[in-house]
Amino acid sequence: MIEIRNSIAVITLRTPPLNFLDVALRKQIADDLDRAQADPDVRGIVLVGSPDAFSAGADVNEFGTLLQSAEPTLATVIGRLDACQKPVVAAMSGVVLGGGLELALACHGRVALETARLGLPEINLGLIPGAGGTQRLPRLVGLQTALELMQSGTPQTAKQLEASGLLDKVVEQDLIEAAIEQAAQFAGMTAALPRARDRVLNAAQVQAFVQAWRDKLTARQRLQPACIAVLDALQAVALDWQEGLRLERELYVQLQTGPASRALQHQFAAERDAAQLPADLQTAPRLVSVMAVVGAGTMGVGIAICALDAGLRVVLLEQDESALARGRRRVGEHYQGRVAAGKMSASVAQGAEDRLTVSLDWTLLAQADLIIEAVFEDLAVKQDVFRRIDAHARTGAVLATNTSYLDVDAIAQATSRPQDVLGLHFFSPANVMKLLEVVRGKDTAPEVLATGMALGQTLKKLPVLTGNAFGFIGNRIYNAYRKQCEFMLEDGAWPEDVDNALQDLGFAMGPFAVADLSGLDIAWRMRQAQAPTRHPDERYVAILDHLCEKGRLGRKAGAGYYTYTDGKQCKTTDGVVRGLIDQASFQRGIARHTLSAAEIQRRALLAMVNEAALLLQEGVASRASDIDVVLVQGYGFPRWEGGPVFWARQQQRQALDRDVQSLAREAGHGFVVADLSVLVD
Ligand code: NAI
Repeated sequence: MIEIRNSIAVITLRTPPLNFLDVALRKQIADDLDRAQADPDVRGIVLVGSPDAFSAGADVNEFGTLLQSAEPTLATVIGRLDACQKPVVAAMSGVVLGGGLELALACHGRVALETARLGLPEINLGLIPGAGGTQRLPRLVGLQTALELMQSGTPQTAKQLEASGLLDKVVEQDLIEAAIEQAAQFAGMTAALPRARDRVLNAAQVQAFVQAWRDKLTARQRLQPACIAVLDALQAVALDWQEGLRLERELYVQLQTGPASRALQHQFAAERDAAQLPADLQTAPRLVSVMAVVGAGTMGVGIAICALDAGLRVVLLEQDESALARGRRRVGEHYQGRVAAGKMSASVAQGAEDRLTVSLDWTLLAQADLIIEAVFEDLAVKQDVFRRIDAHARTGAVLATNTSYLDVDAIAQATSRPQDVLGLHFFSPANVMKLLEVVRGKDTAPEVLATGMALGQTLKKLPVLTGNAFGFIGNRIYNAYRKQCEFMLEDGAWPEDVDNALQDLGFAMGPFAVADLSGLDIAWRMRQAQAPTRHPDERYVAILDHLCEKGRLGRKAGAGYYTYTDGKQCKTTDGVVRGLIDQASFQRGIARHTLSAAEIQRRALLAMVNEAALLLQEGVASRASDIDVVLVQGYGFPRWEGGPVFWARQQQRQALDRDVQSLAREAGHGFVVADLSVLVD
């Protein structure tokens, strides 16, 4: 839509809610630009969006479809801007992302509300900006800021970018008026209109900057083609304009059709889908504004913090004064730390703390819309706590357990209202980790599940529905994976061989370093509890138990699989551990042999894939893609590999079946071979 004000044509982008640059909007902009150009009464042009969005960029639903390349493409629209004889000013508010920012970069001027959020999130989908953004941005803001915006994918506010060179004006209000004024000012100039593309950067400086950053890439960044492509594109800023654009395009196309971007696009879609309950369970959630948390330990405190951050009122309960005081102190320290680090204003932190009540008085539970317990992982303790919760909670309150492994039904049976009980499995640290497993007990009402999912969204988590099975989705797959990694120790690998191979694949940490970090005693206790029911023919690797017997409980004890000096992990395992491993191999009658990194990676992935298929067969997971969300968000599975299900779909089916059979032979009793066809949509 065009409106003429003071001889300036104001073109409004109007595709709610976020002005995604789909083919219809691209056409509208191109047509409006043509009309404004042709109108002799128009001296300048302003492009404006809505208060929520100038434009959130490309429409991901068009990805991989013909619509994405349908004319006018974004490059075509931007070409019109480049050729425009009249000054064009972008008036930006709300989100200005990806293609939206690239559009603005091609305008002659940019004016923004100080709260506007500008960013290039393409990297999150394994891409780089593909419509000139990699070439224009550094010409305006310099190499360093351009790299930060492209490499992090995180938007910055206009206020933060005020001095960057990106914006001609940052205003608190009257955005359109300011943009009109800017356009009029340009129109009155005798000099050529300013264009980012006309600026020239020093080629030697570009070269040196890019080389320095190539050397600084982390191991995980090196595994991601888009991180390297960002630098390749930056380097092209030293080239002739057309040549730079051509190179950007080439890199973009290569990335878009490459495996990492496809995996990231899969994750993106999987996360969006996971937040939706299956159709038969969809119903309106109950309202939650007051949350009670029972147990102020590691998890209780983390859960309380994320509820406070989301604006809820929180009642935190404990069993004794000292645990309560410790929990309260931890919440206080958290907010002090955020303020000290400049991550939160003192008033926001104060507001959060004001919403918190800590108490030993369990009658306060009656105030809560949702109650979650995070007490010790012990069924009897939890059942007792749920009996007490049941006695005080109001009718209609949702009752949740944060258990990692226990049977949600057995916990629900301790109450008079199992339909109101569900599992809400947060991950540690609960205020940081995005994953939330929403566990459906056999009696859980759909409305209660819907409330769990909605709460997840309120707390800015990624909620994933799971059935009530030992370890739910995540810990069950992780157990299968860890077990497989332990088999590989007996077969001939050292812990560092396994950890390094999996880190090379992109895992944040290998399983043995993770085990040391969490503490081996937790697993040890669980193994002892399971010992009476363990089948004698099951392949059981006792190395961890022997480590614990020697007091090597992990990082906190200074030694576990690895030794630690001043908290720093020694890269290789010591003689004690190797001796225990050698002995384990000997006792199983295995002649130790070297396992290649590829073999280690494949076995670990296959173990996950088989378990993933079992979870689907058993109905614990309702969608294959949910499993990928859980592994990526909760277990450090490399996002750009898409998750175990995505990985499996890239493999040759016969080879997968053959290799899973071979895992089964080696694992002996208890290894159930899944029907892998359930993983294919
Ligand atoms: P923790 O030991 O740090 O905290 C437990 C707290 O519960 C203690 O402060 C204790 O005083 C309190 N408590 C125990 N019995 C109580 C009772 N009867 N009434 C009131 N308060 C009581 O334990 P953590 O690590 O926070 O774990 C809590 C729960 O969260 C467990 O079920 C655990 O499996 C689960 N979880 C733990 C994760 C972790 O990484 N730590 C991750 C995900 C879930």
